[in-house]
Amino acid sequence: MLDLLDLRKTCEDRHIPLISIQTQDFLVSWLERHQPKRVLEIWSAVWYSSIVISQTISKRWGTLTSFEISYPAYLEALKNIEKAEINNVVLYPFDINEISLEKFFSQKFDAAFIDAQKSQYWDYLQKIRSHLAPENTLLLDDVIKYQNKLTWLYQFIEKMQINYKIFDTEPGDGVMLIK
Ligand SMILES: C[S@@+](CC[C@H](N)C(=O)[O-])C[C@H]1O[C@@H](n2cnc3c(N)ncnc32)[C@H](O)[C@@H]1O
Repeated sequence: MLDLLDLRKTCEDRHIPLISIQTQDFLVSWLERHQPKRVLEIWSAVWYSSIVISQTISKRWGTLTSFEISYPAYLEALKNIEKAEINNVVLYPFDINEISLEKFFSQKFDAAFIDAQKSQYWDYLQKIRSHLAPENTLLLDDVIKYQNKLTWLYQFIEKMQINYKIFDTEPGDGVMLIK
């Protein structure tokens, strides 16, 4: 059985990027508040945040779909999924910008968690827009620390008149919540 604290320690020792403890706490409370049935994650690395999401939403039969570009990370993630005995997930080893999402899923997502290339956040939003349910909620990580890379994102959300809120979850960083 996989222990989440052990996985965090391994990721930190190997300098594998992963969500902070504060983002993890926010992520869990956001999922518990909104109770999504279908969650999309962009990107998963070796699957730390994905385990947090899938374990939280499995209590209400939610399912997770996530993507990761690095094939070695994808293979490691598959092992972690097996060790964690998780069965409410689908993980794809692709760059979401390079594929046609219609080929992968027909149902809409009611939540998405984005922890990816900060300079591409707005590309992801455009890409996933038509795959979101009418009632949806999005959580974007690291929006304070990498604010200088998010100019396009702010222009996009202003143009589309999207409501958002930023939470200072930790010193020097935080998350953006879009509803
Ligand atoms: C910050 S890490 C994700 C950490 C993960 N959310 C966690 O907490 O366990 C970002 C990951 O995005 C992947 N990535 C970067 N650009 C990508 C792209 N265009 N398509 C898919 N994955 C990408 C990297 O390989 C890296 O593993």
